Amino acid sequence: MKNKIKVAPSILAADFSKIYDEVKKVEKANADAIHIDIMDGHFVPNISIGPQMVAAINRSTDLFLDVHLMIYNPFDYIEKFVEVGADLITFHFEATEDVEDTINYIKKCGKKVGLAFNPETSFSLATKYLEKLDLVLFMSVHPGFGRQKFIPSVLEKIELAKNLKKDLKLDFDIQVDGGIDIVTASRCINKGANFLVAGTYLFSQKDMIESVKKLKNC
Ligand code: DX5
Ligand code: ZN
Repeated sequence: MKNKIKVAPSILAADFSKIYDEVKKVEKANADAIHIDIMDGHFVPNISIGPQMVAAINRSTDLFLDVHLMIYNPFDYIEKFVEVGADLITFHFEATEDVEDTINYIKKCGKKVGLAFNPETSFSLATKYLEKLDLVLFMSVHPGFGRQKFIPSVLEKIELAKNLKKDLKLDFDIQVDGGIDIVTASRCINKGANFLVAGTYLFSQKDMIESVKKLKNC
């Protein structure tokens, strides 16, 4: 049976002057989650939004909140993001020496946990954590900004994760984030990704309902 594809529009590409309407648009488009990028200006060369904005998004919708932390010391901020309604907290493998403790604490808070990998980071470094994870996120651009071009070397990592998932009989989602459109989405799905994050592509289309459908079926 074909794996069900999940789609999370990335709020980074939304018009922040009308954030409530943008969240409602995502809701109406039958998206599976809303992807929220948190950047600290240190781990990545950009600053985005913080817990207060996540709380505002949470008040606007019942959508699943997929929080992508691009920050150093993610452990120190878990409670904050749990408090404001995160359903899934994904942090970067490169951002902390306490990967294990951070995974454990997110789980202890009753939330789903994801581990993210930059394009140049080898995924094989992290296989020992796999059985505790709900999701593995492969960056297909250098994190920090939307509107970048898809980096095709991510496809090998997706395939490796798919094979490991099968061999170890695990059940984590394989998410891909950055430069996703109809063409790149289908390349990722073919290799085993089942969760697509798309910012620019989805927010630049006239009809997000149609575009989410297209991504799910490509
Ligand atoms: C990049 C972010 C992405 C970004 C994707 O650092 O993690 O979630 O919003 O944007 P697009 O789809 O425009 O590449
Ligand atoms: Zn992201």
